[in-house]
Amino acid sequence: MSFAFKTARGGGPSMAAMAHTTTSPPSDAPSSTPGTRWPPGPRALTGWSHLRAMSRDLLGAVQRWQQAHGDVVHLRIWPEHEVVVMDPALARELLVNHHDALQRWERGLQVFAQVHGRSVLVAEGEPWQRQRHALQPAFAPKAVQAFVPTIAGAAADALRAWPARHVRYPVESAITSLAMDVIMRLLFSSRIGADARAAEQAVHTIGAVADQEMYWPASWPDSMPWKRPKREALATLRGLIDRQVQARRAMAAADWPDDLLTRLLRLQQDHPGVWTDATVRDECMTTFLAGHETLAATLTWWAACLAAHPAAQQRAAEEVAARLQGRAPDAQDIDALPWLRQTLQETLRMYPAAPVLFSRRSTRAIQLGPWQLPARTLFLVPVYRLHHDPRVFAEPQAFRPERFGPDAPPLPRGAWVPFGVGPRVCLGQHLAMAEMTVIAAMLLQRFRLAPADGEPTPRPVMRVTLRPERPLHLQLLPPG
Ligand code: HEM
Repeated sequence: MSFAFKTARGGGPSMAAMAHTTTSPPSDAPSSTPGTRWPPGPRALTGWSHLRAMSRDLLGAVQRWQQAHGDVVHLRIWPEHEVVVMDPALARELLVNHHDALQRWERGLQVFAQVHGRSVLVAEGEPWQRQRHALQPAFAPKAVQAFVPTIAGAAADALRAWPARHVRYPVESAITSLAMDVIMRLLFSSRIGADARAAEQAVHTIGAVADQEMYWPASWPDSMPWKRPKREALATLRGLIDRQVQARRAMAAADWPDDLLTRLLRLQQDHPGVWTDATVRDECMTTFLAGHETLAATLTWWAACLAAHPAAQQRAAEEVAARLQGRAPDAQDIDALPWLRQTLQETLRMYPAAPVLFSRRSTRAIQLGPWQLPARTLFLVPVYRLHHDPRVFAEPQAFRPERFGPDAPPLPRGAWVPFGVGPRVCLGQHLAMAEMTVIAAMLLQRFRLAPADGEPTPRPVMRVTLRPERPLHLQLLPPG
């Protein structure tokens, strides 16, 4: 899922539409009050050329502006003012210390709400606090430990279906199905089974449509004829979730399995006025989508990195073999595989699944370092740039899990933030790390990964999450 402030892609009608968005209500635009002190940035008449640059290659554009103007860049895109924060300390200060003065970008929220309703991902203010507080215990480290056998069971079933050898195996698709199956089991105690392909296609369609809709000031109604793919995709996912919720409600409450849906239904039993049927469905949708997309993207990159770095892979496989002696990982193993963890941390550095955080708008004036920024400024935090800063990560394009080792110098705060930072940090971060460790360990127990012949090093593109430009294929070989 992409959290970026999105802009028109490549001119044409979208550019015009975006220009319209920004011209709408004058009260939406921040005004430079007398005390305002903007950071430096590129100058242009309207700033719409900045939009075009961002729409073509957002990460490349912010890198160029950082090189030319510094770590905090002001973009005047009439009538908006945007501030791109690429200094780790200031990014952290913004998201932690000024959290109460920030709301997520309105258009982004509108687009997300079409899929996620009013779930914790989309809610703001008091409802968000209440939802987050109620859901948090299910995702705390202790609770996550209880999920490990389920994750290992799903991984064993999925990996059993992979061939022992293959010259060009569709690893990305296989990992995505596996991640989807894991979240289905954790959420519904159910298998994705025959629904997997349709769900995968639906997730892809919804992501692509959302990415486009961000560029427009408003959405056409979903009933429009050309929106049929979106309608069908939403119906597929809602159908999948509704069938599970209905089946659960048909069971006696005493027989409900201990999974995330049961926790939601118990919240509903305790507070029926707050946890309505729609809220339960919205939270299921967010857990399903947020719970597998980013994870699948990260594990895909991890597989690509280890295939390209045989020595790092060998070391991880040996660590896994020594610790597990061929058995499945359990909760105690998660923190006992340090090198494997470092390979995952380095993957999250190089390829953060959410490379730009959800854009924020300030509700009051903010002092950020030497800059005095008025209310209604838009803030962009490109995690990808923080993670590729050569002053913090020497040779940032090199895959070096040692950076996260016990002997490595401590990282400046805010320099590594793949799960975000502050009160809106990823709800599923502990689950994600446990899941990735278990699946990665089990994969190394069964296979050795190598690049497929003739496949170039995959290029990252922002497509919902940060994904390889072309679906990743790898060579599968027996371990050892
Ligand atoms: C490698 C895997 C993952 C990555 C890299 C990731 C990344 C992120 C990031 C960066 C944010 C914050 C966005 C922002 O501040 O703009 C976020 C929020 C969120 N994530 Fe994750 N995530 C991952 C896995 C998961 C999983 C497994 C779940 C749940 C099952 C999950 C659920 C959520 C939710 C509900 C939020 C919104 C929290 C809130 O607004 O209070 N994520 N994630």
